[in-house]
This record gives sequence, C-alpha cells and structure tokens, in this order.
Amino acid sequence: MKDLVESVRSPVPAWLDVTQSVTGLVLAVFMWIHLFLVSSILLGKDAMYYVTGFFELRFLTDWQHGYPVLVSIIAIGVFAIFILHAGIALRKFPVSWRQHRIIRDQMRTMKHSDTNLWYYQAITGFVMFFLGSVHIYVMASHPDKIGPYASSDRFVSEHFWPLYLVLLVAVELHATIGMYRLAVKWITFGGKDPRRTRKRLKVLKNALTVFFLTVGAATFVTYMKIGLEHRDQAGERYSPATRHSSVQSQQVGDE
Ligand code: HEM
Repeated sequence: MKDLVESVRSPVPAWLDVTQSVTGLVLAVFMWIHLFLVSSILLGKDAMYYVTGFFELRFLTDWQHGYPVLVSIIAIGVFAIFILHAGIALRKFPVSWRQHRIIRDQMRTMKHSDTNLWYYQAITGFVMFFLGSVHIYVMASHPDKIGPYASSDRFVSEHFWPLYLVLLVAVELHATIGMYRLAVKWITFGGKDPRRTRKRLKVLKNALTVFFLTVGAATFVTYMKIGLEHRDQAGERYSPATRHSSVQSQQVGDE
C-alpha cells in the first residue's frame, strides 16, 4: 500500500511529460529550419552549395575544404534528442494487438478529432523512428558528402528517394500535429470562446502542414531532377567553378 502511495506521488511521470514536450518542441523547430536549409536547392545549386559550406565553416578556409565534422556533431546531438523523445513516447504506445484494437474502437465510437490526431502522431512517430535513424546515421557518418550533386546522387543513384518520400510525409504531419497538441496541452486558452480558439489553431495546423509538404515536395522533385541528370557522373562533386567551366566548355563545343 505504501509503495502504491509513493508511486502515485512520484514526480517522474510529470517530468517525463515535460521532457517529451520540450524535446518535441526542439525537434519540430529543428525540422522546420532543416527543411528551409535543404530547400535552398530550389534557389539553385549555388545556393545549396553555399548553405552547406556555411555549416562546414568553409568561409574560414579557401571554400574548397571546411570542417564537416561539425555536421556530424550536430547530427549526433539531434540523434540524442530524437532517441530521448522517441524513448519517452514509447511508454504510451499500444504494445499489444488488444490495446491497439481498443484505441481503434474508441476512435470509431468517439469520433473525436483530437483523439484521432494522437493516433496519427503515434503511427508517423513509429515510421520516423526507423527511417529518421537511417538518415541521421548517414548524415553523421558521411558529413562531407552533402551538396547539390552529392545529395541529388543520394536520392537517385544511391536509391534513397523512397526513404525520403515516406519520411517527408511522416515528418511534416508529425511536426505540425505535435505543435498543435503542445499548444492545446500547455497553453490555457481563456477568452470568450476557447472552443473557437482551438478550431483556429487547427486551421493554422492544417495550413502549416500544406505549406511544409508543398515546399518539401518541390524540394524532393528538384533533387530527383538533378540526380537523374547527373546519373552518368554520379560521385562527381559540385563546385561553382566546375559549373562555370562546364558551361564554357559546352559553349565552346556548341560553336
Ligand atoms: C543534423 C541532422 C540532419 C542533417 C545534417 C540533415 C541533412 C539533410 C540533407 C543534406 C538532406 C538532403 C538530402 C541528402 O543530402 O541526403 C536532407 C533531406 C531530408 N531530411 Fe534531413 N538532416 C538531418 C536530420 C533529419 C531528421 C531528424 C529528419 C526527420 C526525422 C530529417 C528528414 C529529412 C527529409 C524528410 C529529407 C527529404 C526532404 C525533401 O525531399 O524535401 N532530417 N536532410
């Protein structure tokens, strides 16, 4: 009985809840910034080349070489937060077919959209756990292989595109649903009509999902296009100088 009272009084569940929310917030913000950086390819190969170089601090050297190890350090840090977040989330996961059935039945009878969101959050989180781990491992172990051609070659010639396609959908749904649930959970909505505020939040969530999925899909298509064009030279690295010389040699060839 004493043990039961002690466990009821334990602050651990509350701390786990707070940690899950904080790590979720950090990861969602990271994912949105990450998508903007990765989508620099939409502005052209040079834009992505300089964004990559910036993270390797190539401006401190001759722009040919930087410190890719910094990317590994960031990736390992993100991986640690990712694992912590997923590990804490596991405690609420339906672990047996019976528990899963109960949730599905409740979803059907309650028809409560926020309960459904919890389920989508769990499914997308499960997908991300596996696919995200592969991606982060590749980024941490090959930090020097990021760039307009190296990344596009990974999409096409190294066959990563199916992984990125599924991961993109899972990440964008998970991040926006997560941010919505964080707001509902931790922010007290006073005012005259809290129900209306929640509806507005949901509209914002949907708008953000559409926005990030659209940017992500355009980015995906651009890497695929470059990867397909570059298939015969896969492995060759991009540099603005190479681009200029290849344009010049093409012009000479045209003459
Ligand atoms: C510090 C860690 C990370 C780095 C350095 C990084 C870097 C990159 C880079 C350079 C690309 C372009 C493709 C490539 O080079 O392979 C990319 C694509 C992508 N990354 Fe990450 N990433 C990181 C973490 C994550 C995490 C944690 C997730 C989600 C769990 C994620 C999801 C994606 C997705 C979905 C794409 C494809 C985007 C699209 O097609 O629009 N990344 N990432």
